[in-house]
Amino acid sequence: MKEKKLWGGRFTKSTDSFTDHFHSSIGFDARMYKQDILGSVAHADMLGKQGIIPEKDSKLIQKTLKEILKDIEAGKVTFNEKAEDIHMNIESLLIERTGDVGKRLHTGRSRNDQVALDIRMYLKEQIIDIEKLITDLMEVLNKIAEKHTSTILPGYTHLQNAQPVTLAHHYLAYVEMFKRDYARLCDTYKRTNVMPLGSGALATTTYPLDRVYVMEKLGFAGITLDSMDGVSDRDFVIELLSTLSIIMMHLSRFCEEIILWSSRRYAFLELDDAYSTGSSIMPQKKNPDMAELIRGKTGRVYGHLMAMLTTMKGLPLAYNKDMQEDKEGVFDAVDTLKMCLPVFTKMIETATVNKKNMYSAAKEGFMNATDAADWLVKKGLPFRDAHEVIGKLVLYCIENNKALEDLSLEEYKKASDIFTEEIYSAISLETCVNSRTVDGGPSEEYTKRLVDINKQYISDIKEEQKKLTEEKK
Ligand code: ARG
Repeated sequence: MKEKKLWGGRFTKSTDSFTDHFHSSIGFDARMYKQDILGSVAHADMLGKQGIIPEKDSKLIQKTLKEILKDIEAGKVTFNEKAEDIHMNIESLLIERTGDVGKRLHTGRSRNDQVALDIRMYLKEQIIDIEKLITDLMEVLNKIAEKHTSTILPGYTHLQNAQPVTLAHHYLAYVEMFKRDYARLCDTYKRTNVMPLGSGALATTTYPLDRVYVMEKLGFAGITLDSMDGVSDRDFVIELLSTLSIIMMHLSRFCEEIILWSSRRYAFLELDDAYSTGSSIMPQKKNPDMAELIRGKTGRVYGHLMAMLTTMKGLPLAYNKDMQEDKEGVFDAVDTLKMCLPVFTKMIETATVNKKNMYSAAKEGFMNATDAADWLVKKGLPFRDAHEVIGKLVLYCIENNKALEDLSLEEYKKASDIFTEEIYSAISLETCVNSRTVDGGPSEEYTKRLVDINKQYISDIKEEQKKLTEEKK
């Protein structure tokens, strides 16, 4: 006997049971149950208001949908794979509970615009959650930076000692990256915040739908302007995956540094026990597993971005079933970020900074050589000549196992008679850092200003988030 499907009219046979399993998406789209129901409530409300279905049917549909929502949240509902996806599971439940009345809900609607609506609603919420998590991280980094505007550590290029900087300067660099990530999230939100319902399967419908009413009811900022685009656009998914990939890339770079810094060779940081793990064989070990795992998880988020770009690249307009593949990847990416961000924030917040080791590492490797050359330039020597003089002195130091600041004035004078006692204070690490007062630099004066700029920025975005959350209520 043919089993009943919501779309079963033109079929004489049932689908193969393996087919049901293969094309069903309920296993992963069930998490959009709330969005699906709220979308349907708005649609039913509009159908009633427009006289497309009887007012009293609209009321019963809305009431029953809300009851279904409560039952799902109370764990009283089991979804059915044979009903394919979340949309038809809920519609079937509605029909089960209201009979013929429930059958009116899908008037003027297709699953194609329904799914486009649900995923936009779902991702909007996720973007806001991630925005908050990234704000927490920026706040923690800015606080640590504030405490360390005079904590000197080596700055590297090519991972070779380059010039001394401060821990504040280093962490504030990451705050800048996360500020850009935040802006990208806000931008992605804008393009996700567009309401596609009313697009129908692809060419809208003949019923007098009020799309703007539904848009306002569901808290969207606008409606999609071409129905074929409305059902076949997944740019916002790709854009979010790209934004999330960039965030993971930033976290991963930072993790790489934390892993290096907590190694015995650097010993700049000691991770808290709560954010490290031991070895099953080596009793002495304390491993930075959380940082490694975040670095590792970056790969899967990039993978989802590639998968989605590839899924979409050959699709003719409008909806194609390929697009059902949009969900698992973006859901996993969102879940991954929602785990990685708070773990990272806690890990960095609780790590102990070893100022002494940072300072002594900054004293190695002639990091003040540029400043020694600059001092000669300030005394009138052309920069290229100064570079040569200091280069020779560095070589002399290497041969004699000394640092530039260890040389006697006689040794300096042998290289150039311009040198005076002044050279010693000019090349102290503190001078190297603090005379770089140029905007963007490591000086205490400037980084303190940047910390204040960031405080203002963080309080502004928190205010915006609060408004957004209140608007939603
Ligand atoms: N489960 C489907 C998806 O995620 C819903 C849309 C189905 N539309 C269709 N014409 N089969 O894309």
